[in-house]
Amino acid sequence: MGGARPTPDRERYAGLFAQRTRVMKSSAMRDLMALTERPEIISLAGGLADTTLFPAEDLAKVLSHMAAESSARALQYAPTEGMADIRPALTEVMAAEGMTVDPDEILVTTGGQQVIDLVCKTLVDPGDVIIAEGPTYPGAVPTFSAYEADVVQVELDADGMRIDVLQETLARLDAEGRRPKFIYTIPNFQNPGGVTLSLERRRELVRIAQEREILVLEDNPYGLLRYEGEALPTLYQLDGGRFVVYAGTLSKILSPGIRVGWTLAPAPVRQKMVVGKQGSDLNSSSLSQLMVAYYFRERDWHDYVRRQADVYRARRDVMLDELGRHMPEGATWTTPQGGLFVWLTLPSYFDTTDLLARALQHNVAFVPGRAAYLDGRGGQSARINFSGVHEDDIREGIARIGAVVAEQAELYASLTGSTPPGAGRGRGAAPPGAAGDVADAGAPIVPLRTAGRRRGSR
Ligand SMILES: Cc1ncc(COP(=O)(O)O)c(C=O)c1O
Repeated sequence: MGGARPTPDRERYAGLFAQRTRVMKSSAMRDLMALTERPEIISLAGGLADTTLFPAEDLAKVLSHMAAESSARALQYAPTEGMADIRPALTEVMAAEGMTVDPDEILVTTGGQQVIDLVCKTLVDPGDVIIAEGPTYPGAVPTFSAYEADVVQVELDADGMRIDVLQETLARLDAEGRRPKFIYTIPNFQNPGGVTLSLERRRELVRIAQEREILVLEDNPYGLLRYEGEALPTLYQLDGGRFVVYAGTLSKILSPGIRVGWTLAPAPVRQKMVVGKQGSDLNSSSLSQLMVAYYFRERDWHDYVRRQADVYRARRDVMLDELGRHMPEGATWTTPQGGLFVWLTLPSYFDTTDLLARALQHNVAFVPGRAAYLDGRGGQSARINFSGVHEDDIREGIARIGAVVAEQAELYASLTGSTPPGAGRGRGAAPPGAAGDVADAGAPIVPLRTAGRRRGSR
């Protein structure tokens, strides 16, 4: 028996790699996940539903009924479009989002992630333009780069994607003779920005899509995880399914482990996506689809979503309080009305990629803001998650990040011989909405709250 194999020399394979691998980017989140699995690390980096909240006995019952009644089908291949059994469940979720859909129009996918992939596979040739929010979902970044898209990011403010900037961007692209293939948006409790697209902007976005005949990919994993305020109509609903492709998932309201998502799309687009999916994975797991069907039939899924929302709301509140306590003056962060994330932006002399390296030494992790951009922006920002860890860990995690931030601020002061702009904890907050040096550096501007101040309603 031989010992460890020598690591193969990468050069040997280089000539075999496709061109696209040169621009493919690894997902910062997935890379971090490996690190943050270390038990001593408090990870505020994940985007995880807290699966410990799901009662083990419920899972056991659902699985045993499924095994007793449908084991052969659970272990068999299924149609690419998805099994008939799961359609009523997904239709119920859509109804809870205020949408009436024909169950036969649902294409079941392997998570919402596969919808992003299939939309790109269907629409994007190398060099094609995708418009995305800035910041955007870090998990979409590797997908967009694998299809060699030219991603143009439109910044967010407290009301979601800035439609005025979108209009300017579209006009500029028009002048260059370029038509974007689609606009990617996460309207509810955006990942990572935490902000929600206002009703007025939803209407405008749909109007623009219809006028220009551009598709919008509406990615909505978090719509049902609302902790306050009124639910807003989906873009799909406002559009009537003409130019909006909708991506749904059970990952955040039931389980990311089952990998069940779905899409609704105009029929010609959906048909291409089905063909694309045939080549990707033939079908999404039959076992998972049947499990979902049994779960929805036998258990009160609404109740489980409500219970999760109660837990996450309390965790969000703890996180917002702790940020107020530990972040320096000049730091801003969003106040999400739902979802899983707060977007933190530090004064301009911070670099959150460097900060993460220090934070990991203190056994705490977050996602550095650059992961949410394709153009190197985001260096002052960080995505911090409040759903996946207990309240005590949130307190400890934010305190540790605060300590690392304070250390960096002192270092800055000693190097420059000055008091860093915004140094000092939680005092003399910038006026709400002011971006200060954040704006000067061209970083994302989504401030809702500033250090030392509590704003917003709950
Ligand atoms: C905005 C967004 N889209 C898609 C996904 C992918 O989710 P899944 O593939 O688990 O459904 C996530 C997961 O965090 C997300 O936040």
